[in-house]
Amino acid sequence: MAKLEVEICGIKFRNPVMPAAGPPVWNGEAMKRCAEGGAGGLVSKTISVMAAQVPHPNMAEIPGGFLNTELWSELPPEQWIEREYAIAKETGLPLIISLGYTAKDIAQLAPKVRPYADALELSTHYIGDDPRPMMEAIQAAKEAVEVPVFVKFSPFRDVKVAALAAKEAGADGIVAINSFGPVMAIDIETGFPLMGSKEGYGWLSGQALKPLAVRCIFDIARTVDLPIIGVGGVFRGTDAIELMMAGAWAVQVCTAAILKGPSIFGKIAKEMEEWLDSHGYSSVEEVRGLALKRVQEQEYRLYPVPPLLDPERCTGCKLCEVSCVYGAIKVVDKKAVLEAEKCAGCGLCVTRCRPRALTLPRAAKFK
Ligand SMILES: Cc1cc2nc3c(=O)[nH]c(=O)nc-3n(C[C@H](O)[C@H](O)[C@H](O)COP(=O)(O)O)c2cc1C
Repeated sequence: MAKLEVEICGIKFRNPVMPAAGPPVWNGEAMKRCAEGGAGGLVSKTISVMAAQVPHPNMAEIPGGFLNTELWSELPPEQWIEREYAIAKETGLPLIISLGYTAKDIAQLAPKVRPYADALELSTHYIGDDPRPMMEAIQAAKEAVEVPVFVKFSPFRDVKVAALAAKEAGADGIVAINSFGPVMAIDIETGFPLMGSKEGYGWLSGQALKPLAVRCIFDIARTVDLPIIGVGGVFRGTDAIELMMAGAWAVQVCTAAILKGPSIFGKIAKEMEEWLDSHGYSSVEEVRGLALKRVQEQEYRLYPVPPLLDPERCTGCKLCEVSCVYGAIKVVDKKAVLEAEKCAGCGLCVTRCRPRALTLPRAAKFK
């Protein structure tokens, strides 16, 4: 069976799936449930020097995604230091403690959480576009503790610039990404925004966030040689594999753990193992950064190349036919028939074909 253990900055994780800072790790008992659910390590909800006062309502499921307007922990930092971290440590799993936000806050909090921390994760969510406050926060953490310091990026900044700045400031790793926003959704029965924040704004996470997370991880991985923990839209083992192919060493999960419960961590890890086994990989590390190589190998084609069609696999479902605006593919006698001369080579049918009867020639080249 494929090896799932990973080591990041000397910290050993039994598998690369852990909770992200958020409701599933809102206190010590919740973190214990994540460990029982199969997480490979723990990350605690972000704390700052004061308990947060959050607007209500602050979470909503939307089609393909999730909105929140939670801030950091509503529990006072003293409670975390006196009670919650010690409970999380009883699990025996590595504990990454999330702190926010300014250098002053970090200098105050880091020495106090140090007895429980295998690493720190600094949130940059509320400190603006200028990389300097982030660099100062990293430096404050590095001065206060000797454990690895990870910095968590929000996706609305240039992550390449931020990655270089984080490395220069001494960060040991990068966590990417936080939720994206502001965004908005409205309950059309009442006209009220789903979120109870002053403007009705929220922050997007879940499946809709995954392509943004993948791109950010990819950009960070090709900019700096720091370990990356990927986060954004991981619901299944295959999502985690995708983030790792972009360059992540491990993944964090928030929305899926809110919606499906803490057993999701072990389930994702098991699905990763099964996928790796079925694709001939002996360790999760073998897929790390694969897309960075593939992009180099990819031929930049400005001419259309029709897909390859394997009629044996075709189930006649017509998903290809209904969405081929060029009329190049039709289902005849329950089998797809391709008219190559009409094909614009857009590739859409390949991504819609569930039984993988359609493939792109470049995909065929690499198993
Ligand atoms: C309700 C909620 C609360 C969150 N709270 C925090 C937090 O306290 N600190 C933080 O760094 N990220 C926080 N996040 C962001 C998540 O850790 C994660 O980066 C983001 O949701 C993307 O991952 P996902 O698609 O798996 O949810 C929160 C997300 C949600 C949905």
